[in-house]
Amino acid sequence: MNLAPWQVELDAARDLWADRVALCSNLAELRSVQVDALGKNGAVTALVRRIGEVANADKRAYGQASAALKLVCETAIADKQTALELAEVAAELADDTFDVTLPPAAVLAQKPRAPGQSGGQSGGQSGGQSGGQQLGHLHPLCRVQTDVEAVFTSMGFAVLDYPEVESEFNNFESLNIPGWHPARDMQDTFWLDNGLLLRTHTSSGQVRAMHTFAPPFRAIFAGKVFRYEATDASHEHTFHQLEGLLIDRVVSVGHLLDSMRTLLSAILRRDVQVRLRPGYFPFVEPGFELDLQCQLCAGAGCSACKQSGWLELLPCGLVHPQVLRAGGLDPAQWQGWAFGLGLSRLAMMRYGIGDVRHLLSGDARFLAQF
Ligand code: PHE
Repeated sequence: MNLAPWQVELDAARDLWADRVALCSNLAELRSVQVDALGKNGAVTALVRRIGEVANADKRAYGQASAALKLVCETAIADKQTALELAEVAAELADDTFDVTLPPAAVLAQKPRAPGQSGGQSGGQSGGQSGGQQLGHLHPLCRVQTDVEAVFTSMGFAVLDYPEVESEFNNFESLNIPGWHPARDMQDTFWLDNGLLLRTHTSSGQVRAMHTFAPPFRAIFAGKVFRYEATDASHEHTFHQLEGLLIDRVVSVGHLLDSMRTLLSAILRRDVQVRLRPGYFPFVEPGFELDLQCQLCAGAGCSACKQSGWLELLPCGLVHPQVLRAGGLDPAQWQGWAFGLGLSRLAMMRYGIGDVRHLLSGDARFLAQF
């Protein structure tokens, strides 16, 4: 019996694709054979579609034969896929390298700590005894910064980020601290070979912010600052500050003071007493030191506050007209207040840390306590 030409063609296609599937040695190859045969423009798909061109008498037979061809291909590909997947697993099992990134069962079983629950100073809470890996968590500085940012965002402040490597202009001159000014001694500076410097305070962002926003605006910007000085329990060459800047038509010391009290109460989670003392900074006039009533002795006097009942925490003041000018603002039209919060010191007070050098030590025994 002679076969119709289409029948010969379908048989040949079946052999061809059976061979091509059999020759696949990995899943990617198989996938490409699948596309070539059964994809939208695949060869088998084209054969199935060709029924329109077949003589009426043959249509039924052709339909059945081409559907059978398609099914044979699909089955062969599915079988081959299973075989290749099994082979891959077998190869992985035969390879005795070990996935060190997989956490041990003890860690997977640990529960995260409830928010707001702070670690004690005396020992890690997670993982230690189980022998498992410890879960990571935010650094205490990062937590304090996030909290301060949340308070200020709720008061409409933008959160900005400025470079640690700065120009002399942004760090000093724009802030009314010319080269000969004695205030430069207060901030011994790390100079870079290219004439730039490591910012000595976050105030370096003040004129940047004035150039970024059209007034009125309010913004905070936190980050590392650097001072070339000897280190001890309360001094570190690298520490963290958070700067706040508000520019408006009319601003007052009262508004500044109230904003600071709101901030500190929110961070320390209780009502706090603050007081202002005159403080000198060339970029504010008037300038203040804002003191926080000692949280340990409630103002009675103790060793932490050197018997004074107060802790110096927050230098601040009204933005000096020269600084407004450097930021392109007319002091006859605009006023502002600014503060520079010592984030490192605030973290120390909040968590009862006695030595600032712990903060950036990277010592896991210290960090595990928070
Ligand atoms: N930049 C000052 C410092 O680092 C602090 C400060 C900021 C003072 C803003 C007044 C206003 O000491």
